[in-house]
Amino acid sequence: MIQLTINGRARQVSPRSHETLLELLRGELGLMGVREACGIGMCGACTVVADGKIVSSCLTLAGLCDGLTVETVEGLTGPNGELSDLQQAFVDHTAFQCSYCTPGFLMATGALLAENPDPSDDEIRHGLAGNLCRCGSYLKIIDAVQDAAARARVKADAERESA
Ligand code: FES
Ligand code: FES
Repeated sequence: MIQLTINGRARQVSPRSHETLLELLRGELGLMGVREACGIGMCGACTVVADGKIVSSCLTLAGLCDGLTVETVEGLTGPNGELSDLQQAFVDHTAFQCSYCTPGFLMATGALLAENPDPSDDEIRHGLAGNLCRCGSYLKIIDAVQDAAARARVKADAERESA
């Protein structure tokens, strides 16, 4: 039995010995926004954030995740399903076609912006290098990340002024 905090909620689970975090999240926990594609750590579709760091959930043994705080794309939306600014920026810039890769890009972008709130285009390319988009939406993704970063900076400035 291990204990995890998933999208802010404490969960106790008993993963099988070879079960990956990806299988646990999609299977037992029903978090289907965590996408499976390559299954070998090459595409970023299964990216989640664990204790603030991006991880490929397809390469992570669930049994080794005891005590971790894990965020998936489902945790980005508000209590009534409202989109976060990051998600809205991807929508506004049509930064996807089939959208299969989008949850992974969103999670990687959130972690990138937490470390670097004002990234250059090259820093975005480098930060998201582990995420592949087979539809080739890269240029629009960079625009969306820049927009999301700008929205976050405006919000942070407003919070600082009102404090
Ligand atoms: S499915 Fe995990 S990196 Fe591709
Ligand atoms: S939008 Fe289709 S794989 Fe990225």
